[in-house]
Amino acid sequence: MRLVISMEAYEIKTDSPEATMALAEKLGTKLMAGDVLTMEGDLGAGKTTFTKGLGKGLGVSRTINSPTFTIVKEYMGRLPLFHIDAYRLEDSEEDIGFDDYFEGGGVTVVEWAQYITAFLPAARLDIHLRIVDNQVRSIELRPGTPHFEKICKEIVA
Ligand SMILES: Nc1ncnc2c1ncn2[C@@H]1O[C@H](COP(=O)(O)OP(=O)(O)O)[C@@H](O)[C@H]1O
Ligand SMILES: [Mg+2]
Repeated sequence: MRLVISMEAYEIKTDSPEATMALAEKLGTKLMAGDVLTMEGDLGAGKTTFTKGLGKGLGVSRTINSPTFTIVKEYMGRLPLFHIDAYRLEDSEEDIGFDDYFEGGGVTVVEWAQYITAFLPAARLDIHLRIVDNQVRSIELRPGTPHFEKICKEIVA
């Protein structure tokens, strides 16, 4: 007997930064401590915009900016939000103590996650953002666990 676990991907298209933030905010309200989200997508695809919405959903009141020069920024909301931007870690293979964030009792979101794949936990929600045109973005949610799959179903419903 073979056990096949296949989880669907969920694609949503948004037609404004506000719509992307609204989607992410909805997601943010449903997250739990220990949740890890990864984001891949070209520059300008909307990773930071998505994170701003996520912060709103997590009750973060401070403004979330791109953490490009700091790698990790921490925000306090209903749960802590750890915002990692791995852009400058490309090819470095350096472990900056990622597990401290992943297991730090908050939500971790990683921009440019493809640069640190070796350090990512398997239980995560992968988010792929793609520029369709000027204002349109394709946002694909790929849940890696039933917990995330349930959330995905709820937010696309
Ligand atoms: N549907 C959309 N969703 C998100 N951002 C959008 C959308 N349409 C236009 N934009 C613009 O695209 C840019 C996305 O930037 P940002 O979120 O910083 O991307 P990244 O972090 O992926 O480099 C912003 O200037 C934003 O206003
Ligand atoms: Mg960014």
